[in-house]
Amino acid sequence: MSQPTIESILKEKRLFQPGAEFSQNAHIKSLDEYQRLYEKAAADPPKFWAELAEKELHWFKKWDTVLDWQPPNAKWFVGGQTNIAYNCLDRHLTTWRKNKAALIWEGEPGDSRTLTYAQLHREVCQMANVFKQLGVKKGDRIGIYMPMIPEAAIAMLACARIGAPHTVVFGGFSAEALKDRLVDAEAKLVITADGGWRKDAIVPLKEQVDKALEHGVPSVDNVLVVQRTGQNTHMEPGRDHWWHDLQANASGECPAEPMESEDMLFILYTSGTTGKPKGVVHTTAGYNLYTHITTQWTFDLKDTDVYWCTADVGWITGHSYIVYGPLSNGATTVMYEGAPRSSNPGCFWDVVEKYGVTIFYTAPTAIRAFIKMGEHHPKARNLSSLRILGTVGEPINPEAWVWYHRVIGKERCPIVDTWWQTETGGFMITPIPGAIPTKPGSATLPFPGIIADVVDLDGNPVGENQGGYLAIKHPWPSMMRTVYGDPDRFRRTYWEHIPPKDGQYFYFAGDGARRDETGYFWVMGRVDDVISVSGHRLGTMEIESALVSHPAVAEAAVVGKPDELRGEAIVAFVSVEEGYDAGDELDKLLKQHVVSEIGALARPAEIRFTDDLPKTRSGKIMRRLLRNLAAGQEIAGDTSTLQDRSVLDKLRSGA
Ligand code: PRX
Repeated sequence: MSQPTIESILKEKRLFQPGAEFSQNAHIKSLDEYQRLYEKAAADPPKFWAELAEKELHWFKKWDTVLDWQPPNAKWFVGGQTNIAYNCLDRHLTTWRKNKAALIWEGEPGDSRTLTYAQLHREVCQMANVFKQLGVKKGDRIGIYMPMIPEAAIAMLACARIGAPHTVVFGGFSAEALKDRLVDAEAKLVITADGGWRKDAIVPLKEQVDKALEHGVPSVDNVLVVQRTGQNTHMEPGRDHWWHDLQANASGECPAEPMESEDMLFILYTSGTTGKPKGVVHTTAGYNLYTHITTQWTFDLKDTDVYWCTADVGWITGHSYIVYGPLSNGATTVMYEGAPRSSNPGCFWDVVEKYGVTIFYTAPTAIRAFIKMGEHHPKARNLSSLRILGTVGEPINPEAWVWYHRVIGKERCPIVDTWWQTETGGFMITPIPGAIPTKPGSATLPFPGIIADVVDLDGNPVGENQGGYLAIKHPWPSMMRTVYGDPDRFRRTYWEHIPPKDGQYFYFAGDGARRDETGYFWVMGRVDDVISVSGHRLGTMEIESALVSHPAVAEAAVVGKPDELRGEAIVAFVSVEEGYDAGDELDKLLKQHVVSEIGALARPAEIRFTDDLPKTRSGKIMRRLLRNLAAGQEIAGDTSTLQDRSVLDKLRSGA
């Protein structure tokens, strides 16, 4: 499909565009300017990125080749040397930003801390020196399993500083899930805290680390523990060290290691269509550049902004848009330990008011939770500092969009609905506020340099308003480089799902989408066996593997069903082994089992026991039918391939 014309976009009635003053002061001031930029980038992407790399980043050594594209492997800025921690910290120290707030942190119990760029730099250097003291070398992997406290960001930056790739594991994952990730990454050191606060309770993180290591992670020599909650914590002599003990004698100077552009920056595990999560690998320079520029343009970032992204650093959003993107720009980034909770339904709005947050970035699931808690909470706070709102993680339903726009944005703030993934590293399809008018529920247009399309499985563009697969047709700087330890899986999953033709490769995102008559993208959700529960991405196979690892389970099939609050809820169809009673007790036991195998985020909302599962004659579970059943819908589509119709009838009648 050709690019939309400006006239056709502006003719739309449902559009929202902030006032003229906003656009005049924005980085990208008009749709016309966006389009010129887009066309310039599309005509010669390497040239476009090279110009930005030169202007926006510090280089120890300039690159020789901008892009080396040997599908599906892309290398950006080959021969160049930089360091993302240097770009996030050191270069600001020679400017007035030295004493600017880099990180504002608010703990759930109401404690808080502000670190200037100079202070953050010092603590990062101290931690980097402690890593070295513990025997960590460039290239060694470090596991981070932390609550949302400044030390989580400090640890990430300290890793980047010495060239030790981090793998951050979300604190809500269980000991078992943590173990799997540490084993796969062969982590040498783990950084954790005694605990963290979440929904008025302490999450005992160190205890989980102990359990994970008990199960056997031979690569881990040391554990560094930050004292956060102060409860009694077991410390294994010789292995476990308190951060404050080692920090006391650590130097606050540690030069940033010049890193090759393509040196690994981090591994982040994410769910896919098989049972085993994939280690998504991101590298240094391209990731730095892309997260830097997308933060700057998409949030129209200014030095006066107070920027708050409510994600957890355990997810890609936390990596790219709490830590690296904002700090690389010298911004003030807010970090909040807590989650929206009924005991303090106004907690988010208190943070906005207290710090005068100007840019607020959250997920549709959080917005839906706030709607439920009532608009009197935000209305009782002064939210006038806000100027831009953002959303990420799942398609935003128009009701939530309109509420966000009206109650939080006071019909004044543009909403940037950013479509992207762990794999893409940064925003791919997103409004640029002031330039691209928004429509509720649409991520609008691709970021300059991103050649996106909606295609069929042969790679042919589908027509206007036709559903198809979201695909990216040119490499971009922050694209994932591989699946850690499994390059074959990388190629198969992302670059061969739509077979290449005539030298054209298609990055397959796994999302369905359509483009409307103005060329705007509407992302419809996953087309594979990945579900999104409260914006957390989970593979149905992963949950099935957890279920069948319990001795009572013969077979399990997991599907998502629509859920008003969480987007999707997990429904598990389970057949039990002989000798076990399918009843309430087993129901509870299995839910708990999934929690201990993966984490509370994967707890099934519902388990339906059944003698058998609907399968095709070749023995494949027909999940489509189970999805219909779970949602209480009529069975749609063809059922002629079903092996045994009576299975379906029984499931339908609840027998
Ligand atoms: O299905 C899309 C959905 O989230 C998936 C990526 O999940 P994850 O790697 O965990 O990263 C989440 C944060 C970037 C996508 O394949 N998704 C993300 N953002 C949007 C979205 N769906 C619709 N609209 C969005 N803005």
